[in-house]
Amino acid sequence: MRTELCKKLGIEFPIFAFTHCRDVVAAVTNAGGFGVLGATGFGPEQLEIELNWIDEKVGNKPYGVDVIIPNKYEGQDVRDPEKHKAIIKAAIPQRHRDFARQLLEDHNVPELPEGKPYRERVTMTENTAVPLVDVALKHDNVKLIANALGTPPPHVIKQIQDSGRMVGALCGKPAHAQYHVDAGLDFIIAQGGEGGGHTGDIGSVVLWPEVVKVAGDIPVIAAGGIGSGEQMAAALALGAQGVWCGSIWLTVSEAETSETVKELMFAADSSGTVRSKSFTGKHVRMLKNAWSEGWDAEGNPESLGAPMQMMVSGSALARIHRYPEQAKELAFAPVGQIVGSMNHSISSRNLLMDMVNGYLASTERLSALLED
Ligand SMILES: Cc1cc2nc3c(=O)[nH]c(=O)nc-3n(C[C@H](O)[C@H](O)[C@H](O)COP(=O)(O)O)c2cc1C
Repeated sequence: MRTELCKKLGIEFPIFAFTHCRDVVAAVTNAGGFGVLGATGFGPEQLEIELNWIDEKVGNKPYGVDVIIPNKYEGQDVRDPEKHKAIIKAAIPQRHRDFARQLLEDHNVPELPEGKPYRERVTMTENTAVPLVDVALKHDNVKLIANALGTPPPHVIKQIQDSGRMVGALCGKPAHAQYHVDAGLDFIIAQGGEGGGHTGDIGSVVLWPEVVKVAGDIPVIAAGGIGSGEQMAAALALGAQGVWCGSIWLTVSEAETSETVKELMFAADSSGTVRSKSFTGKHVRMLKNAWSEGWDAEGNPESLGAPMQMMVSGSALARIHRYPEQAKELAFAPVGQIVGSMNHSISSRNLLMDMVNGYLASTERLSALLED
């Protein structure tokens, strides 16, 4: 199981845990895997706090940070954040804001308390991601930075590689993997369409070997639909050097996922998700609910592009998070099809060890087939 990538990063198991929760990063890293903190929801100051906390917990063990710089979004050449925000706001039709508000009203989600207004912000852009990369690179234990939704800009790649860290990116198509190869990335995460969060529509078993072929000597990490050691064995058999899981860490005991959302996930089966643009303007696999169905229904306003739709949903999310029980039907719960196997809470360490044992059991089963 110690792939070349494991040796390069100095980790025991090639299991990468994408999570927004620092406790999960620390727990997975300390158990011999590799935690990756999704940083997009943090400002630079908060990220500094999170990384200091992780540094304290993991000793000298390595971990990673993930940002989102999409390859295409509205106003992407505008470097002044205030100017960019004004452009994005102007591109949002009132009809879309009204529709979002109506969905909340239809589900009796209260307004935010007086004196606690939501401050609109633009997220998932180069302007917001670059300061996060600057913070991450100040931390010696951060050995890897990943980017979602495109190849990072050349100056970001250079900055990370010059600092001695590995830089990589997710992809959902072989053509996107080719962009990553051409840009000189150090690893590629091939995410099949069954995965949670932003995702394409090619299934993992088809995508992984296609990306391995395009990547040549560059290590490929398989993502999308992996929740067990048996699935991990399949990914490694198809040429991946590791597995990158997101969904399964949402319901571990250390995760900060709200109890309401955890319950929804425990109850869902693997057909309970949908790929929908209704939250971010790009396809996200998430639990199907009244929000996704509202935006995706014919006759209703169509989801805007990125980052406008995220701005529309941002103010709704503030209310949804504040009143999780009332907003149950609208909860933003990105998760992959593996949700059907996420039925109870378990610690990160135990989940990781279950994966290792499942991997060993399946490779032994396969080896036994070779004996006569
Ligand atoms: C709740 C959630 C949020 C995610 N956010 C990001 C993100 O900000 N950046 C990123 O690179 N990937 C993100 N992803 C995708 C994961 O990195 C990972 O590729 C994916 O979860 C793998 O598929 P799986 O969900 O079947 O494990 C997210 C996934 C989930 C479930």
